[in-house]
Amino acid sequence: MYTSSAKKAKIYTLLEDYAGYETSFYAQHGLSLLIEVESEKTKKRILFDVGQSAEPILHNMKLLGLDPKTIDMIFLSHCHYDHTQGLLGILKKIEKNNVPIIAHPTIFRSHVVFDPYLRPIGMIEGNTREEIEKYGGKFFLTKTPFPLVNGLFSTGEIEMREDFEKETEIELYTIEELEIRRDKMIDDMSLILKLDNGIVVISGCSHAGIVSITKKAVEITGESNIKAIIGGFHLIDARKERIDETIKKLSEMNVEKIYTGHCTGFLAECEFKKIWKDNFEKLHSGKIIEFL
Ligand SMILES: [Fe+2]
Ligand SMILES: [Fe+2]
Repeated sequence: MYTSSAKKAKIYTLLEDYAGYETSFYAQHGLSLLIEVESEKTKKRILFDVGQSAEPILHNMKLLGLDPKTIDMIFLSHCHYDHTQGLLGILKKIEKNNVPIIAHPTIFRSHVVFDPYLRPIGMIEGNTREEIEKYGGKFFLTKTPFPLVNGLFSTGEIEMREDFEKETEIELYTIEELEIRRDKMIDDMSLILKLDNGIVVISGCSHAGIVSITKKAVEITGESNIKAIIGGFHLIDARKERIDETIKKLSEMNVEKIYTGHCTGFLAECEFKKIWKDNFEKLHSGKIIEFL
């Protein structure tokens, strides 16, 4: 089931916290990538996360010469508003029926923070299941790994986490059985692109821990050659020890290239750059990464 591989892939950064130097792209706190996967049998475009509003994504797509109507399916890495809020606006431009939206079954749960004041940060403001379905979205909610297209797989839920990645620095809460409880972000899922000569891990915020996610990607595909990891690593509020441990473990796994930004944080990015040197690249809106 997880042995098919893609011939080539092209990943467009549709939205990121950084717009790049001397570009006309828009930046916004959030993430959205368009993954174009070509295999022997098919070629599909998968939208990975949708930022916190559709406008900057649509602006950047125009600059990149990409038509939203060519999007075949949508993958939501987790519930956070900076990855999900642009959904309705994008669906309205895709203008198709039955657009598969892949996400974890708990994506619509109540999700709040209290610091510095109570506010919802999950799927909010009109992003109800009914409204999304009205505009052509067709939910495919599952927590198990599965192939979206030949050579591209969901990691599913990351059940086994490395000890040092079990605790999150940010205090996130949910309501369960009428009680306020810590939210462990079990909905955090990533994508694995499998090529003939290795895998690429594509993550949104890595709330499950980027080392734990990468280990699951290796386990699912049986491929230990990791060509790249792309996405946010959520180390922005992490202690230095956690950053160091992450770098140590990813180095041991011989990860070839690192493309990161969003919630990774400046300190962690500097540390990654020191180790990966030219094989570290900062993500920005408009950046295109190709695998041939
Ligand atoms: Fe995020
Ligand atoms: Fe997040």
